[in-house]
Amino acid sequence: MSKDDVYREQLLSSIDEEALGWIKEKSIEYIRLMSYYRCAMMELETKFKVLREQYSISHDRNPINSIQTRLKSPKSIREKVERLGFEHTIESIEGNLNDVAGIRVICAFKEDVYVLADTLLKQDDIKLIKIKDYIKNPKENGYRSLHMIVSIPIFLSHEKREMKVEVQFRTIAMDSWASMEHQIVYKKDVKLTPEMQAELDKCAELSAELDERMDNLRKSVSEKMNEE
Ligand code: GTP
Ligand code: MG
Repeated sequence: MSKDDVYREQLLSSIDEEALGWIKEKSIEYIRLMSYYRCAMMELETKFKVLREQYSISHDRNPINSIQTRLKSPKSIREKVERLGFEHTIESIEGNLNDVAGIRVICAFKEDVYVLADTLLKQDDIKLIKIKDYIKNPKENGYRSLHMIVSIPIFLSHEKREMKVEVQFRTIAMDSWASMEHQIVYKKDVKLTPEMQAELDKCAELSAELDERMDNLRKSVSEKMNEE
């Protein structure tokens, strides 16, 4: 018998009926919780699709470029609760993590980010839990986006549940920078030299300048159209 086999035997013999029941029960609860988060993401995604639909018939342009959703993986969930010093239980995941469900709304212009964020917050089923404006106050590395944690109700057959979702709003330029930076460094254990950090920040400034100039250009063109 190999060491692994011995270990497996010991493990299996330590799982009695009760323990097995607990494991099964937890996995069902876990799957159920994840499905609630998926429902909440679907609700939010629908809200943005509805807005996009409305904009497409009542405005001359569309503020929403694309919408992405993601559910945190079980491994990332476990690592995050443990990193924060909490227990890895269903209650703890739901109570302590704000970003199990995430939706990212990518807009054409910076102004659209704030218009859409305001529009969402005005909807009476949405509650704002936390907001971080990394556009007005970019992170040290240059990261920009508007982050909100909101709670949204989902309606199940016999109950209504409030679920938390992380909503990230950004422009196409902010998204390009973040996607590239993510591939280069985000959450990797590398320490950037001050020169590398400065270069990253410089690229973020260039991307912010692009947003600013395109926003101004759009406003000038629209003013000119109104005059004509
Ligand atoms: P996390 O533990 O990473 O979720 O961070 P947090 O709880 O402090 O929240 P924060 O609002 O700062 O960031 C949440 C999410 O924003 C991350 O999971 C990323 O998707 C994105 N994000 C934050 N900072 C950066 C960054 O420097 N670069 C990139 N590419 N994305 C970032
Ligand atoms: Mg996160």
